[in-house]
Amino acid sequence: PANVTKGANGVLSVAGVEVTKLAEEYGTPAYVVDEDDFRARCRDFRDGFAGWDVYYAGKAFLCAEVARWVAQEGLRLDVCTGGELAVALRAGFPADRIAFHGNNKSESELTRALDAGVARIVVDSHEEIGRLAKLAADRGVTAPVLVRVTVGVEAHTHEYIATAHEDQKFGFSLTGGDAAAAVDRVLAEPSLELRGLHSHIGSQIFDSAGFEIAARRVVGLHAQVRDRHGVDLPELCLGGGFGIAYTTQDDPESPAQLAGELAAIVEHECHGYGVVKPRLSVEPGRAIAGPAVLTLYEVGTVKRVELDAGAVRTYIAVDGGMSDNVRTALYDADFSCTLASRRSSAPPALSRVVGKHCESGDIVVKDEFLPADVRPGDLVAVPATGAYCRSLASTYNHVPRPPVVAVRAGEARLIVRRETEEDLMRLDVW
Ligand code: LLP
Repeated sequence: PANVTKGANGVLSVAGVEVTKLAEEYGTPAYVVDEDDFRARCRDFRDGFAGWDVYYAGKAFLCAEVARWVAQEGLRLDVCTGGELAVALRAGFPADRIAFHGNNKSESELTRALDAGVARIVVDSHEEIGRLAKLAADRGVTAPVLVRVTVGVEAHTHEYIATAHEDQKFGFSLTGGDAAAAVDRVLAEPSLELRGLHSHIGSQIFDSAGFEIAARRVVGLHAQVRDRHGVDLPELCLGGGFGIAYTTQDDPESPAQLAGELAAIVEHECHGYGVVKPRLSVEPGRAIAGPAVLTLYEVGTVKRVELDAGAVRTYIAVDGGMSDNVRTALYDADFSCTLASRRSSAPPALSRVVGKHCESGDIVVKDEFLPADVRPGDLVAVPATGAYCRSLASTYNHVPRPPVVAVRAGEARLIVRRETEEDLMRLDVW
């Protein structure tokens, strides 16, 4: 988070609240969200991408309070299931600022979206076009639609792959004319209004080369649609995927820089194809939620293991793990961490922060140099855990999911409470 300081006593504070106080009041593990930082990131995207539509991708992290922050900061919201839609609507998020995604939306999900009057529905398959057209016609409404195009680029951290990209479940492929056929079909359905095309190439991207290829291909389809149907599609969504710093090696660009680059890329392609530049949108999730949160853990056990050549690795077991942050186990993701509850002058020791789950892959931070005297009772903070940590959390081993505590201007308040053993057993039929 932006508002993190370390006191002379070595205690970390977030937005003016000492983490030792947070641990006392809310227990550990806990997700701590810096509200001002989250809101500032919303505004940075809103202002940096002025003239665009910015949808916060709720899959990164969504709860009622976060939906309210996003609404208040003037962003739109991308939801990808009926569940995300339900939370957003109950939190009062305006339906006319919501886009609904997903590769297999059910009839009931589509019905709910139509009844709520969401701004856009991104269609992902031929079946869905038929399903949506019928549901909209039955209701006597016109559904505003984007067609999700698979542009043949799959971007990952620091690189993009332009092969084997078609071999995935999302969207309509450009090769073989599948995307063009989807466009034809949507245009032919009187209950559907084609607003434009949508492309999302991946997540945690630092290199705009993938966006360049995507833009070239998707604008190419725009030109085809214009030539065949005489229609200038009014919108184009480039998806999300903007990378954040998990370790000091990552160096993300500002939203304003990104907006400038992406606009230039699209303008260049539109000029090349001679098409009118559509209104653009993006869907950042990680870049807004990720850096605004840190996870606070308490150390329970410490074990030293001799590695080859006399090196030593310290295993620091904390009171959470892969149930509250599965990204390390699932994606081999990199996180950093720090001793958060006291000062230490002990020398740095190669450490691995692990959880309390019953598997050896239960790792939170693979490698970090922590003071050699880290001991039970210490607090460890793992930053940049706002995206895809709470939202991917599980109750593996019947470990209740941690609370989310919002801090702002020296005050803390609970926005998602800790799960209880009662919660865990509530679904059992006794
Ligand atoms: N739009 C669409 C259509 C998406 O599928 C996604 C993410 C986003 C926007 C937001 O992407 P972001 O800006 O957050 O990168 N669980 C994985 C990431 C999965 C991303 C899924 N789609 C992780 O923890 O790295």
